[in-house]
Amino acid sequence: GFNLGKLLSTTGYTTLDGGFVNTASTSSAITYIDGDAGILRYRGYPIEQLAEKSSFLEVSYLLIHGELPTTDQLADFTHRIQRHTLLHEDLKRFFDGFPRNAHPMPVVSSAVNALSAYYQDSLDPNDPEQVEVSTIRLLAKLPTIAAYAYKKSVGQPFLYPDNSKTLVENFLRMTFGFPAEPYEADPEVVKALDMLLILHADHEQNCSTSTVRLVGSSNANLFTSISGGINALWGPLHGGANQAVLEMLDDIKGQGLDVNEFIRKVKNKEDGVKLMGFGHRVYRNYDPRAAIVKKTAHDILGKLGAQDELLDIAMKLEEAALTDDYFVDRKLYPNVDFYTGLIYRAMGFPTRMFTVMFALGRLPGWIAHWREMHEDPTTKIGRPRQIYTGHTERNYTEVSAR
Ligand code: ACO
Repeated sequence: GFNLGKLLSTTGYTTLDGGFVNTASTSSAITYIDGDAGILRYRGYPIEQLAEKSSFLEVSYLLIHGELPTTDQLADFTHRIQRHTLLHEDLKRFFDGFPRNAHPMPVVSSAVNALSAYYQDSLDPNDPEQVEVSTIRLLAKLPTIAAYAYKKSVGQPFLYPDNSKTLVENFLRMTFGFPAEPYEADPEVVKALDMLLILHADHEQNCSTSTVRLVGSSNANLFTSISGGINALWGPLHGGANQAVLEMLDDIKGQGLDVNEFIRKVKNKEDGVKLMGFGHRVYRNYDPRAAIVKKTAHDILGKLGAQDELLDIAMKLEEAALTDDYFVDRKLYPNVDFYTGLIYRAMGFPTRMFTVMFALGRLPGWIAHWREMHEDPTTKIGRPRQIYTGHTERNYTEVSAR
């Protein structure tokens, strides 16, 4: 087909598009988004149907392999993941080296990167069998790593995974349970968390996914590439937004601020205040995930009996923003992160774990993109051009003469 990049390079032209606002970095058959119509589909399936009917592992299989699994395929996939949930005992000790007050995101990304040191038999990006093994290892071990990062931060002992449980049950038990004590996760919480993971599972060429592709394009191994994605996700303009939303709501409550007064500050860009959880590069109408999450926030908070004043503030903010010209004119609507933090909080997760929860969900998407890139024989190393704006040539001056 037509290749604009090739045409421009042969004609000597370079395009400059800061933030890739109009530039595609790749073609992809994984996720379809229509930002104006508020449509999100994984492999053609609408997100609303997957959120209602599917499971996180089934969606992971769909994203990575392109089709929904048969009963046998799903059973085999689940079984292989369950067999790989343990961390190497030495890797467990890796967590001891971090300060107790460390944010869990760098702990998690470091541990994921360390997987390339422990599992050297599955690092070759050009060997499909090794890629499959590292895929399974990542899907199986990230929940264990995430739970250990949490346990470390609260000074509690690590629990071994219990492979008779589902991925989500196991994660909740390793996070909130104690050794030698039975732990039964609330089925409503399990269901809601599984659904949240589905909603986060892919979002085409977002900042972290593009990072995973770019790192992987150098033929760096899958573990290392995913670790890069986790670091990109940590930023408050991306996955860190769910934490930032909760902090914003806490601030508004703590300072006894009036919602309208806060909105005024945002509009005047006072102290660079933004309405966190609002706005999206692609969705300029509404974020279909936000609609699902808003309902879940009400359901789960209702069921857990959590009287959350922050939910009231969030609803007032949303109402004020949706009727305000500043937000309407700029097409700023709540994104998926606006409500997820409230749900995680009601489930008992501390604010600092929110972005880790996002990483758990996004993992299959990152893997699917990395694999799609490697399966395409035309893939080249990612190497953007630049427009140089520095000095023209000048001569070196001796330090004494400066
Ligand atoms: N609050 C107030 N004003 C905003 C917000 C916001 N949340 N988002 C955008 N704007 C304003 C900008 O100031 C700009 O106004 P101007 O034209 O007067 O300068 C206009 O809307 C356009 O915004 P851009 O920054 O150009 O939009 P961009 O596509 O670059 O940014 C982003 C998208 C980063 C998501 C932005 O909306 C933002 O910072 N939102 C808050 C953080 C957030 O919630 N991130 C989560 C993203 S979703 C996810 O990762 C799951």
